[in-house]
Amino acid sequence: MTTRVHRIAAIPGDGIGPEVVDAALTALDHLSRQTNAFRLEVDRFDWGSKRFQREGTFMPADGVDALRTYDSILFGAVGAPDVPDHLTLWGLRLAICQGLDQYANLRPTRILPGLSSPLAGVGPDDLDWLIVRENSEGEYAGQGGRSHRGQPHEVATETAIFTRTGVERIMRVAFSQAQARPRKRLTVVTKSNAQRYGLVLWDEIAAEVAREFPDVTWDRMLVDAMTVRMTLDPRSLDTIVATNLHADILSDLAAALAGSIGIAPTANLNPERAAPSMFEPIHGSAFDITGKGVANPIGTFWSASMMLGHLGETEAEAQMMRAIEVVTADPESRPRDLGGTASTEQVTERLCRALDEIGTKS
Ligand code: NAI
Ligand code: MG
Repeated sequence: MTTRVHRIAAIPGDGIGPEVVDAALTALDHLSRQTNAFRLEVDRFDWGSKRFQREGTFMPADGVDALRTYDSILFGAVGAPDVPDHLTLWGLRLAICQGLDQYANLRPTRILPGLSSPLAGVGPDDLDWLIVRENSEGEYAGQGGRSHRGQPHEVATETAIFTRTGVERIMRVAFSQAQARPRKRLTVVTKSNAQRYGLVLWDEIAAEVAREFPDVTWDRMLVDAMTVRMTLDPRSLDTIVATNLHADILSDLAAALAGSIGIAPTANLNPERAAPSMFEPIHGSAFDITGKGVANPIGTFWSASMMLGHLGETEAEAQMMRAIEVVTADPESRPRDLGGTASTEQVTERLCRALDEIGTKS
């Protein structure tokens, strides 16, 4: 058997980012040795807030181009208490997503075995969603400005951008993701009653693209009503597509409804594979628990599993996911945010043992 080699750029970032990325790299290395099917060549980048404070930039000027030579990127989190968040986000994460045109952000959410939703009577069969977030334009396109700073007539604009190209391509990803799931259902989130230009275009293009997917059942929801439906009727939802801002908010709600933000993964995809895609937990750098060894690494394990799938390692992807489910099902191996007492290291050790158990069985 020839071992497939994948080149990975690891960007641990700030706060608990390095703690959870180290845990995921340990798990990936374990899986690679155990299966011998693939090998990862990992380069680590020290990009983030410490570099910004030292050198004035979060990453080198040619940082995005340096990433192009990799097969995938594994990202932790960025954000530090003493650096303004908008500088951090635009200086690193958004710079990478926009620079590599990772326009489709996939956020699977389900209730893993052993975990419970804060919603009464809602179990794993009732909440199994895939949120597809537009990741390149919309409200986070970066258009806007400030003038007359500090004066009474100071003005700031933040313009949402919706292009036919941008909306069409995210709708195609959303409909094809919905088509690949057993229920073949898609809910298009909108706010076209109030936002009558950009989101009317959004709705029109959804209806156009829907014609290419006759086997997908789809409906439309206003974003405010969507929060109610996610809470009161989670079973009625399957795949969900929303704008950059709407999906940002809805996916945090989704993560909380599924048990904890500490387990939620995300993939920033360049679906055409013209540039590498980036995988990361959805949580931030969590200053309140940094350095305590209690960060939940499961969101990063799940992101790593998605990365394996994107690299074509579908068997390893499934093994990682099954091992995650063994960990969550066992109360002894749950971290603090899931009501347990296990440290990051203990969760990681348990996951590696689960990978061994799964490997011996298959
Ligand atoms: P956060 O996600 O860092 O933390 C929110 C709460 O969830 C905290 O109480 C934290 O302890 C807990 N939490 C988060 N991840 C956890 C994990 N893996 N295990 C256990 N508990 C966990 O969000 P917050 O506090 O709003 O932001 C902190 C910093 O992170 C800010 O600078 C923010 O801009 C940045 N941020 C970065 C993101 C990224 O890099 N993709 C995403 C979200 C926030
Ligand atoms: Mg967010």
